[in-house]
Amino acid sequence: MDRIRIVGGNHLEGRIPISGAKNAALPLMIASLLTDDTLTLENVPHLADVEQLIRILGNHGVDYSVNGRRERQHEGYSRTINFTARQIVDTTAPYELVSKMRASFWVIGPLLARMGEARVSLPGGCAIGTRPVDLFIDGLQALGADIDVDNGYVIAKAKTNNRLQGNRYVFPKVSVGATHVLMMAASLARGETVLENAAREPEVVNLAECLIAMGAKIYGAGTSTITIQGVEALSGARHQVIPDRIETGTYAMAVAMAGGDVVLEGGRIDLLENALNVLGQTGTEITSVENGIRVRRNGVGIDPVDVVTEPFPGFPTDLQAQFMGLMTMAKGKSKITETIFENRFMHVQELARLGARITLAGQTAIVDGVTKLKGAPVMATDLRASVSLVIAGLAAEGETVVNRVYHLDRGFERLEEKLSGCGAIIERISS
Ligand code: EPZ
Repeated sequence: MDRIRIVGGNHLEGRIPISGAKNAALPLMIASLLTDDTLTLENVPHLADVEQLIRILGNHGVDYSVNGRRERQHEGYSRTINFTARQIVDTTAPYELVSKMRASFWVIGPLLARMGEARVSLPGGCAIGTRPVDLFIDGLQALGADIDVDNGYVIAKAKTNNRLQGNRYVFPKVSVGATHVLMMAASLARGETVLENAAREPEVVNLAECLIAMGAKIYGAGTSTITIQGVEALSGARHQVIPDRIETGTYAMAVAMAGGDVVLEGGRIDLLENALNVLGQTGTEITSVENGIRVRRNGVGIDPVDVVTEPFPGFPTDLQAQFMGLMTMAKGKSKITETIFENRFMHVQELARLGARITLAGQTAIVDGVTKLKGAPVMATDLRASVSLVIAGLAAEGETVVNRVYHLDRGFERLEEKLSGCGAIIERISS
């Protein structure tokens, strides 16, 4: 299994190209199930999760082709990919595939809307919490689906003439995935759907814009009320994946922690205002430049700041671990409260191996900043936790080896290359 070796202590100087967003690309790829035409997606990041979803979609009958070889957009490896679901050959998403990646459960929406039926394995729990699917089930039932859960599968059928029926649905809790799924399903339903308390994440807006380009009638995406007027059929389209705001925030925090001056090329401040404001309060200088975001921090030290994770536009849970990494070297105490997932503190023990002082009280971590971290072998059980260890390793004294690199490969394109291009000593050790 590959590992990443880091020798900490260097400042980061230069530029880092930001890739297309994993969490925008995945639902956009799933949207290709809604039409028999070709959906062309630009700026799709080259990541393990994308490759896995290509396999899952292939099982339903989606063909794909990559335009050119790796297109050089912002000098990343992000590519343009054509997806064509001429015919849906299978409406079952089996356990072997869904269990590998939770987002693949989302195929339930388009399959049900286009074919009138879907049989999708329950995704199961994962390292960051139980992550139930009750909101998907309630929401699809509100749109006229009969749903049974049998033998680990959710079996959904449209009650009337194989077609879903528009309705009003109020999400009892904000869910990004359930908003994606209900928006896709409602696009092909009969009549009007109103989704209230919908997720406002930029990835939801990116999906809505793609669906609109495919002929859907969607109003209000990006606000908490989304109205969808169902249409008979959707067509193909060409659409661009937004830049990855979590990757942007992660590298901004790396610069804040290691020190230096880096331009995050293609990064967009408007997708990340809350986290960048927080970073500003730590003493990091953030400015908008022509081709992205410039992040600078000199040696004056990191001020502690308390954060609470929240749905967009609040501080993202997907940056919580990285921010905790930064706070381990702040000049004092900070409190980090996780409100989205109940078990997203797997990085705490590992950061402690580098010398961090963190105590947990329920959903809050109290971080007592130390003046230096010391490198050590570490490992983590999810993507964002792993990258928080990389960031900490960049600032730690000596050598840090991060094990289980496959987590990083799920969501960070060319991580070692991007960081070493800015002067970090970081390399992949294949074994
Ligand atoms: C998306 O997951 C992201 N994944 C996550 O990123 C991200 O952390 C999360 O949104 C929150 O921003 C992708 O986009 C592929 P949710 P999702 O439904 O949609 C509860 C990463 O590292 N809930 O918004 O699965 C749920 O348990 C990943 O890139 C229910 O209770 O998250 C959680 O507490 C990790 N019932 C809360 O809602 C449901 O039916 C928000 O989850 C669905 C969700």
